[in-house]
Amino acid sequence: MQRYRRIVNWSDNLILEIGSGTADKTPRTYRAREGGQMPEARLLHIDPRTFRERFGREPFPIRHGLAGHPLFETEALIDLAQRSPGNVQWHRGDLARDETDRGGLYNTFGSRGFAGNALSIRETLEQIETNGSWMLIRDIGSLPGYAELLARNLGVVRELCEGVVPGMQRPRSDVVVASPRSVTPFHLDEEQNFLLQIRGWKQVTITDGRDPAVLTEADLEAFYAGNGELHPGRLDACPRPFVARLEAGMGSHIPSLFPHCVENGDEVSVAMTTFFFTAATERRRDLYKLKRLQRRLGLPAAAVGAHPRLDAAKLLALGAARRLRAPFREAA
Ligand SMILES: [Fe+2]
Repeated sequence: MQRYRRIVNWSDNLILEIGSGTADKTPRTYRAREGGQMPEARLLHIDPRTFRERFGREPFPIRHGLAGHPLFETEALIDLAQRSPGNVQWHRGDLARDETDRGGLYNTFGSRGFAGNALSIRETLEQIETNGSWMLIRDIGSLPGYAELLARNLGVVRELCEGVVPGMQRPRSDVVVASPRSVTPFHLDEEQNFLLQIRGWKQVTITDGRDPAVLTEADLEAFYAGNGELHPGRLDACPRPFVARLEAGMGSHIPSLFPHCVENGDEVSVAMTTFFFTAATERRRDLYKLKRLQRRLGLPAAAVGAHPRLDAAKLLALGAARRLRAPFREAA
């Protein structure tokens, strides 16, 4: 039987989690339809202490001010997607929570045939209420109109992050527009992640990626070898998942490599995810690359993190090798 670590209505929890000032407890939404000025509100509300204590180690709730923002209305999203069709992906929404081909390789959304449809961007988004799908619009922060907005959001995270886990790299914000009751199956992302619910609601179930009962060393080796983001473990078998219902204006931190599943509510959902790497996530990827190399050479390969000094020595050696190779690459 599933044992829940938490079942949280985070709108209640937020009273405790978010800041001390009254303003911090009230999400500020935009009132463009009323002709009002967009307030100079902070877009993202994260309690610094919560961030310090939990970032990268466990999920925590956040508050944001994007609900009702005109840039996330349907017509604006159609325009956004049409301006960057190469960044648009469509996925089936009628999936189970666990969707891997057990024993098979390359369990990605694309390789499992969950992606691609015959509808245009406009048709997909205008019919999203009934077409049982979810559309991903990648890297919206690189586009005019969204860049400034997201830079402000990211600035909040960057400032907090540098004091805890420095070296934020390659930040990217994606929008997901989903049909009612569509499911994003159990999967993991290498990046640190902030998921913000903008319209509708969803239940997000997040498991503890540090627990070997959830994610084994073999799972991690396979993931870093490129075997795909869909997690081969069964969600129901994972101990003590975090389960949260995210309403518009709410969000969650999803730590890097914490497998999770998203189930949308009974209305259209619009959400934004902000991903980024840190110096620590880069080091971890390097260590798994080195481990793969050790295996190919027939050398013993301990679990990453089991011997921190040895890991540090390997990274030093890798850094030196890269510096030696750099001039040759530049000359090539
Ligand atoms: Fe994800």
